[in-house]
Amino acid sequence: MKTLRTVAELRAELRQARANGRTIGLVPTMGAFHAGHVSLMERARAATDVVVVSLFVNPAQFSASEDLSAYPRDQARDGAVAQEAGVDVLFAPPVGEVYPDGFQTSVHVGALAEPLEGAQRPGHFDGVATVVVKLLNMTQPDIAFFGQKDAQQALIVRRVVRDLDIPVRIEVCPTVRERDGLAMSSRNAYLEPAERARAVALRRALDAAEQAVAGGERDAGAVAAAARAAMAPYAVEPEYLALVASDTLAPVDHVDGEILVALAARVGRARLIDNTLITANHTNGRS
Ligand code: PAJ
Repeated sequence: MKTLRTVAELRAELRQARANGRTIGLVPTMGAFHAGHVSLMERARAATDVVVVSLFVNPAQFSASEDLSAYPRDQARDGAVAQEAGVDVLFAPPVGEVYPDGFQTSVHVGALAEPLEGAQRPGHFDGVATVVVKLLNMTQPDIAFFGQKDAQQALIVRRVVRDLDIPVRIEVCPTVRERDGLAMSSRNAYLEPAERARAVALRRALDAAEQAVAGGERDAGAVAAAARAAMAPYAVEPEYLALVASDTLAPVDHVDGEILVALAARVGRARLIDNTLITANHTNGRS
């Protein structure tokens, strides 16, 4: 595995591969690798010839109140994990390589960036969209891989790629979880042992939502109430818990077709998010 720091080095490395007809896969990350990241690398390894993983903690997607400097960083360990996963190129540029002096252009995302995470984190998705477009332009991959864990981000990336005519296929991979159901996240490292036990509340809320719909409930308010009730024993309060259309993220009154149940909650110092897709036919329900 090669570790590269500049766009020029990355382009030179990939030019030859592309000329030889080899396909390129890109997995954008902010490092602190866990099994969720590894699943994306393995999927890229299986689907493309040359696997590039970018490792860049993107200042543009952190707000002033979020602690960018505290974000977990361990490049030596990340390098070993990526190598083990069969990654060919680890692209880890310094901030000045991505945002050189005079940088003043960004991608602004419309309505998809407003609800859920966007409402809690103003400007976050413009920062994500800007860096993702830059990484796609730097790498020009055939396929770029994202996790369903960040459902709104994945939806926005698909939208941006379509809206800006970027020639890449976006593949969204399933959420990898701990044994008790907690979604893998770099932010889980912030959890003290007692908080780690309570953090399962998010998955339990999603379980309750799925069970309510499976039991015939179709009223969104009732499904949300069941999900909230499942969190109470863990003393975890959602920042938001919403049932929305899986394509537009607009709130739904009834479960009909495919909906996304998305939630965020603070547990100790960690701000955690999770989601599940539920498909049901309204007419099969009770309400
Ligand atoms: P990061 O949080 O490092 O996540 C990198 C990729 O891993 C994202 O596509 C994310 O959805 C995916 N991922 C995280 N946890 C996962 C899990 N438990 N299962 C499956 N996939 C998971 O997301 C970002 O970085 C940044 O916003 C980025 C896209 C790199 C732009 O800066």
